[in-house]
Amino acid sequence: TSPFAPRHLLSIADLTPAELTTLVRNAHKHKTAIKSGEIPQSLRGALTGKTVAMTFSKRSTRTRISTEGAVVTLGGHPMFLGKDDIQLGVNESLYDTAVVLSSMTSAIVARVGPHSDVADLAKHSSVPVINALSDLYHPLQIIADFLTIAEVNLSSSSSTLGLEGMKIAWVGDANNVLFDLAVGAAKLGVDIAVATPKGYEIPQQMREVISQAAATAPKAGKLFETNVPEEAIKNADILVTDTWVSMGQEEETAKRLAAFKGFQITSELAKRGGAKETWSFMHCLPRHPEEVSDEVFYGPRSVVFREAENRLWSAISALEAFVVNKGKIQ
Ligand code: CP
Ligand code: NVA
Repeated sequence: TSPFAPRHLLSIADLTPAELTTLVRNAHKHKTAIKSGEIPQSLRGALTGKTVAMTFSKRSTRTRISTEGAVVTLGGHPMFLGKDDIQLGVNESLYDTAVVLSSMTSAIVARVGPHSDVADLAKHSSVPVINALSDLYHPLQIIADFLTIAEVNLSSSSSTLGLEGMKIAWVGDANNVLFDLAVGAAKLGVDIAVATPKGYEIPQQMREVISQAAATAPKAGKLFETNVPEEAIKNADILVTDTWVSMGQEEETAKRLAAFKGFQITSELAKRGGAKETWSFMHCLPRHPEEVSDEVFYGPRSVVFREAENRLWSAISALEAFVVNKGKIQ
């Protein structure tokens, strides 16, 4: 890579533990300031006159709204390009699109199917590329998730997130959101127990990514895998899940719904599994009733709507680091 190659955010794996911590802490700082009516000096007009291209080949509520909102907060122009708006994929190659888009914009935020698509865009782009979800990773979601977990107890006197020793239980499909969550957990010293049905476990390639992430951490969080939801839930502080049918897997719906039977998160399951007294529930959304009962999803332990809002603060933090500060995370 040339010394002028931009720095991209394709996965939480691209960040050191200290950088991930800083992104989350900055998101928290900006959230506090902006909610009290103060746009920090360093953000004000930081992207004035600049365009951020958003190429989305799949639907989105949170990622689109938070990214557009974040660009506007920084004074820039978000240019949303859905799959029917541009030539990409139909009339034009990824290479040509990457070169052309990056010659006229300051960053590309891309939601793709195969991860290789966003990796290829990054390879040929002269501006930073941020992954807005691929089949392997969802880094913007995970920054928001750690903000959601940490913000309750975040103290300005410490430089860590204070999450070491915590335990997350993921009950459901081993998917893109889980992979980046597990990478982040390893880096931040958070243990993660993953319960999937047989045949839906973490692929070996992703296990390796998670263990490489652990190797970057001063005190890595441990990964535990099982096919029994109760085993994952034991002593967990946080129960988390996601849809059993990710975008692009719609044809497998019937098969998946059958395979995941018994994996719905309910209060009864949490109790049977022995989650901590104080457990809370997270979900990246969109949510379907099969993976979590209404009573949990809308109940007092659920932090899902704060988690969704945190996507905005995380997007601001990520754009500041990767676009305004060109990959210098401070
Ligand atoms: N969590 C998330 O990425 O939601 P959207 O698909 O609505 O962007
Ligand atoms: N795993 C889901 C996440 C959506 C935000 C999907 O890829 O569809």
